[in-house]
Amino acid sequence: MTNETQSPPEAAPTDAWRAAIASRKTQIAQTEGVPSVQAAPIEEDVSRRRFIRLSFFSGLGVTLLGSVGLFLDYFYPRHVKGFGGPVPAGKVTDYPQGAQPVHNLDGQFWIAYLDPKETRKGGTGGADGFLALWHKCPHLGCTVPWRQEFEFEGDKGWYRCPCHGSTYTKAGVRVYGPAPHGMNVMEIDIDKAGNIVVQTGKITTGSPNNPKLAVLPPA
Ligand code: FES
Repeated sequence: MTNETQSPPEAAPTDAWRAAIASRKTQIAQTEGVPSVQAAPIEEDVSRRRFIRLSFFSGLGVTLLGSVGLFLDYFYPRHVKGFGGPVPAGKVTDYPQGAQPVHNLDGQFWIAYLDPKETRKGGTGGADGFLALWHKCPHLGCTVPWRQEFEFEGDKGWYRCPCHGSTYTKAGVRVYGPAPHGMNVMEIDIDKAGNIVVQTGKITTGSPNNPKLAVLPPA
């Protein structure tokens, strides 16, 4: 008696197996046929980054442009009125030569038509013409008044600072007090019609030369 071992007959695939294999093939085919399903999120991510970067630089650009605009707006020279710019001071005929100085509050100056014949101590020092003096005291900035009745060294009519007593002649030359120099002089323009304009932004430091800065009216 032979003792033969027989292997069991190979089982034939069932319908269920066939269906499972067919389903798997279909899934693979579908996956391979639609590659864009995996690529889509990457593109979205890239465009989102581009958008954020673009927004950032756009915002930065707008901010910088705004800052430059504000800077230019602040520093752009405009027509200056009043002190710091040209200030009209009437006509030559408004000022008799040798009369007392006239105060112009808008322009912060005293203006007078100086007479060289006024040779007294507090006089013009030989100045002949118009002189505009900034009313700000060169010592500590108090407003200096013209005092026709103030007497100093036996003479009446001086600029006299009320704060520390600095005293100036009619041409703004310092003769007494702590001020470091004479009253500052503003530039004067006089046109052919006799109109006077004081350039309150153009100032010369006061000195004994003040009388030489007087401006003669046109002949
Ligand atoms: S502020 Fe005029 S003398 Fe001092």
